[in-house]
Amino acid sequence: MPARAINELSLEGKKVLVRCDFNVPLDNGVITDSSRIDASLESIRYILGRGASAVLCSHLGRPKERTPELSLKPVADYLSQQLAKKVALAPDCIGEFCERMVKDLSPGEALLLENLRFHPEEEANDPDFSHELARGKQVYINDAFGSAHRAHASTVGVTRFLRERGAGFLMLRELRALRAVTEDPAHPYVLILGGAKVSDKIGVIKALLPKVNLMLIGGAMAYTFMKAHGMPVGKSRIEEDKVELARELFALAAQRRVSLVLPTDHVVASAPTADAQVEVVSTIPGDKMGLDIGPRTVDQFMQHLSTARTIVWNGPLGYFEIPQFAQGTLKVGEAVANLKEATSLIGGGDTAAALAHQAWSGNFTHISTGGGATLEYLEGTELPGVKALED
Ligand code: 3PG
Repeated sequence: MPARAINELSLEGKKVLVRCDFNVPLDNGVITDSSRIDASLESIRYILGRGASAVLCSHLGRPKERTPELSLKPVADYLSQQLAKKVALAPDCIGEFCERMVKDLSPGEALLLENLRFHPEEEANDPDFSHELARGKQVYINDAFGSAHRAHASTVGVTRFLRERGAGFLMLRELRALRAVTEDPAHPYVLILGGAKVSDKIGVIKALLPKVNLMLIGGAMAYTFMKAHGMPVGKSRIEEDKVELARELFALAAQRRVSLVLPTDHVVASAPTADAQVEVVSTIPGDKMGLDIGPRTVDQFMQHLSTARTIVWNGPLGYFEIPQFAQGTLKVGEAVANLKEATSLIGGGDTAAALAHQAWSGNFTHISTGGGATLEYLEGTELPGVKALED
């Protein structure tokens, strides 16, 4: 049986364990991007509005033991603001004290458990730990799409102990958006790939080659592909050990009659710094590195995208953290957002970080909150966190 939706479950008067992905970037304890928390609010509000209590849990970062800087306290404070009610932070995620806090919750109240990864048993998908997590709750909702590719106690193990379970609204939205671009997508279908590493995208390239008409390649990974073509790349960041693989991917694409489109001009500098002198070149000089796609490439990419009906984008097209190398990503982003006829899916992680806060970003069909989870889904991997929700 497919996973049930949150609104198909009876929640009233129950304690609902909600796995969220509150793995948000922090700078000195301050949340710098709250998108993932914001995306979970719909499910949390729904649970509270149904007269149930929400016991929220998440990981933050990759601690191997209790690490005060990775406490979920800033998230509890942010949730309290957004929900306009106190969301207390439990000192741990399991144990007698937490159990009492859960028991004392009234309908309509929410509690946030402390970082799941303070216990190594979380990532080990330990059955006893899973059992402890489930203790005192009657329903399990997984709304943590960003963690659905992890087979951990809070995403998989716990489902053995809570038979009343389902997918939250965010999880449902994410899966719907991914289905739209993988099951019978409209054509022309264009995949935009960027980011630093070819190695991160091999699975997606291979899985989507039979489906897409065109792949537009930017970001540092484009230089590895250029090198494979024998084009000069200067001091650009490349993966020397992936040049051969890039050649193989070209050959595979040719067999499928899919064009891999590389940049034809580049924004280059001596170093990736905010004050570096930049120039636009067609051929990268030996003492410079490519840091963004150039304006001619932006125009060419926009031309290719103008007739697209399905667009999937994963990875920024330049070194977007520095504004003078973010222009390619932003210009192509705005063009994609304004394509009224196309379904556009923006992968999470760096791509979302580069595009999500622009005025026009609301025009994309969907911006995913998942980085690795989105990639794995597109690669055709079954996500364990989704599978575990099925009956
Ligand atoms: C993510 O940020 O991709 C998810 O929260 C998963 O985090 P992880 O890669 O540390 O498991």
